[in-house]
Amino acid sequence: MHLPIRSTLALLLLLISAGCQGSSAEPQTLSREQLYRLHCSGCHGDGSGNGHIAGTLAARPRNLKHNQWQDSVTDEHIFRVIHEGGEAVKLNKAMPAFEEKLTKEEIRRLVGYIRFLGR
Ligand code: HEC
Repeated sequence: MHLPIRSTLALLLLLISAGCQGSSAEPQTLSREQLYRLHCSGCHGDGSGNGHIAGTLAARPRNLKHNQWQDSVTDEHIFRVIHEGGEAVKLNKAMPAFEEKLTKEEIRRLVGYIRFLGR
């Protein structure tokens, strides 16, 4: 059996591009739910703050679904918390900054997802 060189190359390219998925170089490949699950749910869980490592953090993530909190913050605040981290808005630094992991576009989509959680 022999594999034509062209299919071998195609396979190689497929493997390389698969390896690149999830990097911020390809922001459109993940939905906002997937972004949330990948980067946020470990601490925030389903939004209520029940992520599997939530108990180990210096501060407890609040319930992001709570209407009172949703009404008290602007989209800009939520963007900034994700982009610059908790410390930038006088919250606990246990909430990490994502400016190096996510594009602004991805963060904007996550803001939309946080709003969706509150509905
Ligand atoms: C390592 C754990 C951890 C990860 C990962 C994490 N967070 Fe947080 N987050 C926290 C903690 C802890 C707080 C609470 C900080 C406080 O109340 O002082 C918080 C707070 C927040 C808040 C509330 C800010 C407020 O006004 O109370 C938002 C919104 C938020 N995170 C969004 C996100 C999003 C979106 C992601 C994923 C991109 C994410 N977080 C990833 C730990 C985390």
